[in-house]
Order: sequence, then C-alpha cells, then structure tokens
Amino acid sequence: MASIATAFSYSYFIENHSFSVTKVRFDWGIGRRIVFISDTHIDSSVYDVTSLVESIDRLRPDMILHGGDHVSNGDGIDGALDLLDNLSRIAEVYTVWGNHDIWSGLMDKSIIDRVRSIENVYLLINQSIYCDGFWICGVNDPYTYMDNIDKTLENVDSDEIKILLAHSPQIIDEARYKVDLILAGHTHGGQVNIPGIGALWLPLPRKYYKYVQGLFKEEGVAMYVTRGIGTVFLPIRFNCSPELVIIEI
Ligand SMILES: [Fe+2]
Repeated sequence: MASIATAFSYSYFIENHSFSVTKVRFDWGIGRRIVFISDTHIDSSVYDVTSLVESIDRLRPDMILHGGDHVSNGDGIDGALDLLDNLSRIAEVYTVWGNHDIWSGLMDKSIIDRVRSIENVYLLINQSIYCDGFWICGVNDPYTYMDNIDKTLENVDSDEIKILLAHSPQIIDEARYKVDLILAGHTHGGQVNIPGIGALWLPLPRKYYKYVQGLFKEEGVAMYVTRGIGTVFLPIRFNCSPELVIIEI
C-alpha cells in the first residue's frame, strides 16, 4: 500500500512537472527551429503554466506548433487562450483542435474568432499556410472524424516541404505520400506506463497502438508523436514525462 502511495505522489508531484526535451532533425536546409507541444489540457492538469512558457522561451523557437487538446472541458477556454497569448509573445503559434477541444465546444464561431484575434496565433481548421520555404498544414481532429485532408491540402504546392499538424496519429493512413512530416499528439504517450506492461490505456483503434510515442519513418512519410504536456482523467504521469519537442528543419 505504501509503495502505491509513493508512486502516486511521485506521479502527481514530480513527473507532471518534469518537462523533458527531445530534439529531432530533418536535413531540409530551411533553417527553422520549431518547438512542438500538444495536449496542454489546461483545466485538468497540474503542471505550472508559467514554468511551461519559460521552458519553451528558453528553447528560442522560431515558431511554436501546438497539436491540440488545449482544454479538457469548457471551463478551460479562458486559460487556454491566455496560454496561446503568452506563447505568441515568444514566436508565431500554429495550432489545430483536438478531440477534447471539439467536445468542449471550441468549434463555436465566437471561440474561433477569439483565438484568431490573438496576434501571431494561427488556428488551422483543414487549412494550410505558407511559411517562407515550407507549408504548415493543419487538419482538424481525426479522432472525432473532423479531418479533411483533401481540403487541407487543396491549395498547397506539391513541390515544397509540407508539415502536417494533426491531433491524432490516425491521420497517417490518409496523409502518406501527401506530406513530408506529420506532427501528432493525442496519445499522451500512454500517460501512465507500467514497466513490463506498457500504457494502461490508449485512445486509439488497436491498429494504431504502435504509434504511442516517438519518431516513425515509414514508406511515404515520417511522423513524430509527442507524449504531450498535460493530463486527462487522472492528474498523474508515470514513466511518461511531459515533452517539449525541438524540430530543426
Ligand atoms: Fe489529449
């Protein structure tokens, strides 16, 4: 019993706050340094938001990409917008919605307008934007079937590098051969990983279980799935620290 209490205390008080940094490099010669985060779940997490913003600032990004799940429910909308505003003072922010954002009503026009009124914040809903040498393509959430890859890519020049921001790695089947790199979250890396057993629960159809976290280089596409930042359901992370990803391109 004491060991369970110790593990819970560690998961709640220590690992939730221990941001780790992963660096991934692609030799595309573009010369940009991207910081990629996801799943901030502002209203159901216990990490220190100021510490998160300071940690990202120290990485000196040229741009910040956020893979969605800004909130867990409607109570987090103001906090999520505050976080986007603070990140936008560091660098341009590009983001998509995740399943919890959809469930929390963030497709409401008034909320979309509030997000898009923040200077330097670009919310991509099945849209793409050209960024001086490459494209950032933002597909709406695949987990809730809001994605439309054809609409997302309809105006994109096929000869240039394309980075697809998508909440869930499920997009890989549709995006293969169409983009160069997918950046996804959603899995939380399992959030609680028991040694010898693995993730207790993954919100994915079984065929996608292998995409729990990390870099995948497959035929026709590369994909990075981040463990994300925050938590849902239980405010604990075990053997699965919150992750900031530096992507050099
Ligand atoms: Fe999430």
